[in-house]
Amino acid sequence: MGKTLAYKILENHLVEGTLAPGEAITIKIDQTLTQDSTGTMVYLQLEAMEVDKVKTELSVAYIDHNTLQTGFENADDHEFIKSVARRHGVLFSKPGNGICHQLQLENYGKPGKTLLGSDSHTPTGGGLGMIAIGAGGLDVAVAMAKGTYSLTAPKVVKVELKGALKPWVSAKDVILYVLQQLTVKGGVGKIIEYTGEGVKSLSVTDRATITNMGAELGATTSVFPSDENTRLYLKEEGREEDYTPLAADPDAVYDEELIVDLDQLTPLAAMPHSPDNVDSVSNIGEIKVDQVAIGSCTNSSYMDLMKVAAILKGKKVHPDVSLVISPGSSKIMSKMAQNGALADIINAGARVIENACGPCIGMGQSPKSGAVSLRTFNRNFKGRSGTLDAQVFLVSPETAALSAIKGVLTDGMTSGEELPKIPETDFVPNDNFVVYPEGCNKDNTEVAMGPNIKPFPRNTALPEKVEAKVVLHAGDNITTDDIMPSDSRLLPYRSNIPHLSNYCFEKIDAGFSARCKEAGKCAIVGGENYGQGSSREHAALAPLYLGVKFVLAKSFARIHRSNLINSGILPLVFENPADYDTFELGDELVIENAPQQVTQDTIEVKNLTKDLVYKTKPNFSDLEQTMILKGGKINAIKDN
Ligand code: F3S
Repeated sequence: MGKTLAYKILENHLVEGTLAPGEAITIKIDQTLTQDSTGTMVYLQLEAMEVDKVKTELSVAYIDHNTLQTGFENADDHEFIKSVARRHGVLFSKPGNGICHQLQLENYGKPGKTLLGSDSHTPTGGGLGMIAIGAGGLDVAVAMAKGTYSLTAPKVVKVELKGALKPWVSAKDVILYVLQQLTVKGGVGKIIEYTGEGVKSLSVTDRATITNMGAELGATTSVFPSDENTRLYLKEEGREEDYTPLAADPDAVYDEELIVDLDQLTPLAAMPHSPDNVDSVSNIGEIKVDQVAIGSCTNSSYMDLMKVAAILKGKKVHPDVSLVISPGSSKIMSKMAQNGALADIINAGARVIENACGPCIGMGQSPKSGAVSLRTFNRNFKGRSGTLDAQVFLVSPETAALSAIKGVLTDGMTSGEELPKIPETDFVPNDNFVVYPEGCNKDNTEVAMGPNIKPFPRNTALPEKVEAKVVLHAGDNITTDDIMPSDSRLLPYRSNIPHLSNYCFEKIDAGFSARCKEAGKCAIVGGENYGQGSSREHAALAPLYLGVKFVLAKSFARIHRSNLINSGILPLVFENPADYDTFELGDELVIENAPQQVTQDTIEVKNLTKDLVYKTKPNFSDLEQTMILKGGKINAIKDN
């Protein structure tokens, strides 16, 4: 039976397990990437593991999220990351160099390699024929320390591309179409693999736009074959020697299939407030536009911005539109400065800002109240732009640029505009934004711990008797954002758990943090689906810092449950959900013979205040038992 490309790459990297959908596998990780927002915690965790050099072929620490440095906090974080990177053999990309995924693609991505990144859009690397996966920070720290990553082997979905795209229709429209068909949940537990004759009509950066937004499908990753276009891209980037041709076997068997006829696609837009709320630009009609933002890891490649420059050349941005452009990398900005395209953009009346995530993460450029904002980004969730009532539409760079001139959402295909030709120019290599770790090691490089860098909270081995006081009796569907908010107020404190912990549960119960500090040893009682939402590790680390020993709930969201176990906090599920109603704040709880009970099917929790005994289900795997007994994942790895 023929193999899919995804499974060929996974098979080449298989360390443990059986490669079949649903099976637990461990794979070798060749490369890692981090960005600063998640990276501070990753490098605190890496330090805690006391490794010498990282075990990967290449690891890079990028600074692209919080580059504004409005106070000392961001600058402290950057310096901390730079110092730890040097100690452990990790490359450091300075702020201003660009967006992590664009830079990884340009400079380091290689067909057939595996990449693990502490950012959900790491699958961008799939455009180069990599298995590139986004993961939690601790997983990336462990991948650097051990060179491996464990996951459940996904199913593989075949997306067959037929024909070729028409003028004014681009890779963004392909992925918006796939999102319309499969929805934001359609990729969960799956790898999306692109095949078919249409693949060769797409450049590597087109493919990377498509694999980037595979994250919006919920997919583990997405992957394209490596072919002649891949070789040309690598040649342009000055590293043709990294090229390897790769493709699925002609008789490969897939779990699901979708056919996309590229010839039939028209310019599309994802309407507020979900990336799968897709309709054609012509159906949506000529709505008035207030802001256009072009950039992000989805659409800030050289070719994307050259198309924008060609459309803007000799034109004027509409008086009622604010057009803002953030290039994906310093190399792209530099090349456009040299060939005159940057002048074309500026002369049209566009604002050009730093090579960074910027407006994509709400770091500046929030639109005015009630604005319609067209963005070439990947997410349009309510409030992500920084303006709660803004209407954000996700579109291609071509649609964005043309609409910025017209002042209304415009379909270039039906408006009869001619798409200008893009001039060819070569890249000029420049790695002056990269700090290499040569000559540095753990012994000769100090960690720069500015006042914003606080030690990473660590748990201790599970004691015989776990005592705790109930400090919160929460309802159903508590999100990680409820547990540990992450707004622009708190984003600069991602490396400062003591500061963040003051805001733990502040939306639900402002007295939570103070109550924990008074109790010392704490327990949380929750309802159904406790910890749903993002994979934010801080939602486990802040409670750990505040003394939370265990959480009793009717059920847990999967990733948060893992994060609690990684921190050595016991997530316990009521055998009898009605027990939930018997608790009151201040109840004294105890788990006796805790290490013995952890290895059994039931754990008994006594309520000394109410004289009650609750039966709970731990459902711990062997590995999870070890982590709980040792006081978390890092302790378990260090003792191994
Ligand atoms: Fe940055 Fe936005 Fe991508 S925050 S990594 S440009 S999704």
